[in-house]
Amino acid sequence: MKLLVIHGPNLNMLGEREVGIYGKLTLAEIDKLLRDKAAGYEIDMEIFQSNHEGELVEKIHGAKDNIDAIIMNPAAFTHYSIALRDAVAAVDVPVIEVHISNIFSREEWRASSVIAPVAVGQISGFGIDSYLLGIDAAVAIVKRLPD
Ligand code: DQA
Repeated sequence: MKLLVIHGPNLNMLGEREVGIYGKLTLAEIDKLLRDKAAGYEIDMEIFQSNHEGELVEKIHGAKDNIDAIIMNPAAFTHYSIALRDAVAAVDVPVIEVHISNIFSREEWRASSVIAPVAVGQISGFGIDSYLLGIDAAVAIVKRLPD
């Protein structure tokens, strides 16, 4: 099984960015936890971070023939990127949307996601466990898909 993890804008700043909300782990430390968990499941995992909308769109397009599921934290793009939303809708790859913070308990505008309607589902508010739970969800979804 091949999983792609996509981190959106500003997530490269984890560990120093709003640590009261996002915690002290750096993105490299989070990626190591994801890779360790993936290894236990014998998952081939690719991880990608970008601060650029177009690069994220192209990464989603590129997943269409060789990735079984995407775990994506679209970060701020969650709330307004129709381009990312359309990219998810354009490819036949299940996408699990994840957020470190609970986007429903913060500013009102954060409670809306333009990605959620085209994602399989959303995991929000469990800290970095949102990503780890995302791996469990991806494995369950891919197992259920017809061959
Ligand atoms: C976030 C929540 C978004 O609202 C925010 O813009 C982020 C991170 C999260 O993981 O909690 O950058 O996606």
